[in-house]
Amino acid sequence: MRRAPEQVRRQAAARLRAAGCTRDHSRALLVRIDHYWEDLLEPLERLYPDRDPESIAADLMDRASRAYLDRSDDLHLLDHRRALTPDWLQQPDQVGYACYAERFAGTLEDVAGTVDYLRELGVTYLHLMPALKPRDGDNDGGYAIADYRQIRPDLGTVEDLRRLATTLRGHGISLVMDLVLNHVAREHEWAQLARAGEERYRDYFHVYPDRSIPDAFEETLPEVFPDFAPGNFTWDEDLDGWVWTTFNEFQWDLNWANPQVLTEFVEIVLFLANLGVEVLRLDAIAFTWKRLGTMSQNEPEVHDLTQVLRTVARVAAPAVVFKAEAIVGPQDLVPYLGVGRHVGKVSDLAYHNSLMVHIWSMLASGETFLARHALAALPPTPPRGTWICYVRCHDDIGWAIDDRDAAEVGISGFAHRRFLAQWYAGDFPGSWADGLVFQVNPQTGDMRTSGTTASLVGLPGASGEDYSAALGRFFLAHAIIFGWGGIPLIWSGDEIGTANDPDWDQEPGHEDDNRWIHRPRLDWAWAESRDDLRTTEGRVFQGLAHLARVRAALPELHAQAPSVVVKDTDNGIFAATRNHPSGPMVTVYNVTHQWRPFSYAVLADLGMTHPWNALGDHPVRAEADGNLWLAPYAAWWVVDRP
Ligand code: GLC
Repeated sequence: MRRAPEQVRRQAAARLRAAGCTRDHSRALLVRIDHYWEDLLEPLERLYPDRDPESIAADLMDRASRAYLDRSDDLHLLDHRRALTPDWLQQPDQVGYACYAERFAGTLEDVAGTVDYLRELGVTYLHLMPALKPRDGDNDGGYAIADYRQIRPDLGTVEDLRRLATTLRGHGISLVMDLVLNHVAREHEWAQLARAGEERYRDYFHVYPDRSIPDAFEETLPEVFPDFAPGNFTWDEDLDGWVWTTFNEFQWDLNWANPQVLTEFVEIVLFLANLGVEVLRLDAIAFTWKRLGTMSQNEPEVHDLTQVLRTVARVAAPAVVFKAEAIVGPQDLVPYLGVGRHVGKVSDLAYHNSLMVHIWSMLASGETFLARHALAALPPTPPRGTWICYVRCHDDIGWAIDDRDAAEVGISGFAHRRFLAQWYAGDFPGSWADGLVFQVNPQTGDMRTSGTTASLVGLPGASGEDYSAALGRFFLAHAIIFGWGGIPLIWSGDEIGTANDPDWDQEPGHEDDNRWIHRPRLDWAWAESRDDLRTTEGRVFQGLAHLARVRAALPELHAQAPSVVVKDTDNGIFAATRNHPSGPMVTVYNVTHQWRPFSYAVLADLGMTHPWNALGDHPVRAEADGNLWLAPYAAWWVVDRP
């Protein structure tokens, strides 16, 4: 292991002395600098071999030292606490909630006023959607940032954010914020300076004088928003060139091959860390490195960039963790949690997109053979890597059914994806769903889906048996994400069964983007009756709170034990076994509206002597035919309680 050069340590020591730090406080930083030097230098050597990587590393270490000295006492304490519980994210009491501050509560101060509500639901992790200052007008739900050091004026100030983080932390809730690092708004200062002709800033972006290079890239680039933002490049008069815009025309992709861009983001990471943000969600991280002749997604350099940012954060603010927002194919996904040389050095969390898609696929088809095959084939995750398990989020559902997985079980991936998009738009015979189609791509036939969970399972307006079935599907989907082992994440409004927002297109800038149908404002009048089990909102809220409570009391659900899919089951049953040292566990789900069997032998083979369904709180016994029989849409979490 290479230690930090003498000069780097001396510089840090001088800063510590000037700040009058105690011996212990100084030592903590110097130890980290030495320990992490190599983790910092190595990826820089690969990323920028001709740009004097050692001096870049020395500069970044110095920035980390300054941030360390600026970090408040209570955050240093948090750093110590986290060091004692490095598996905190993997513990079964973690529950996530994601919302837009203003659609959920109002200002940041108003969000602080909801902690009791969040705690009732069991929430320990709050993802506030983009709250940094975006461009005016359409800004892709805040993902077009104009200033990383200011808060949206209607939400509050930087000091309000710091206060909110402190309040949440005091109640055992970690604040999660976006780090939008693939692009900035066209109105961001860097883009403005580039437009004003400053070479230094032009080089922060990918700008081409004519179509030759863009056309060459386009040959292999997919389209993210083929409908309202076709193509990946935008002509800009001021630049007198084509600028790379993967998403909307007003979101300019950054040139991460320029180390100055990396340095800017190091400062942003440290700024957010010292405000008390505990988890940084690396937005659209897959797109950050471009390579001609490829999709320019998931390139190996993406993981090196992440490692640099993460290492700097570890030196200054080790409590901070990273979550990769990489909505990519199953084989490309696991590297975001760290494989090969990046194990333990990149993100700790990543969205389990495959699980999400297969939950919806199983519910629509009433069959599990594809999900069993695909989820069993996922590569293993590194021990610290933890899934964010979700039923849906603020984005559309992209039907990421892998062609190879589908072919291996004898179906067409394309036809199944099409079936799912039609089913969830309510366009397929027998469908109970009420979503919308999002972003039809005429070239590939690809289409995605928008809608709230309640509307996608057919809850609003249902009565009698249809209502019970819809409620059953709602719980089943959530039981699967709560029972998988990663952090279950609830999207705001789902906890009271909110339907699609009928007025989604009424706000300026939203009319073309039907993802707003599933980003409703929380109806607090509804939430009032969350204790009343005669109401839908009461049943849903109490049901989710029950999942959280049962989960928190099951050490078997610690995320370090993987969920292993039971391959051979009835085609209406989806089951997984878990083998944590605290005991075995089997999760069993019936995705159909009929009774379905599950072989008791699976429990016996795991050595269970007194199987107990922790969700239903009852013993589990085999029927005369050697099976357990599960009612329609039943969810069982079976543990051994001798
Ligand atoms: C992420 C966000 C999505 C946004 C995109 C561009 O995928 O989740 O809402 O449109 O990044 O920032």
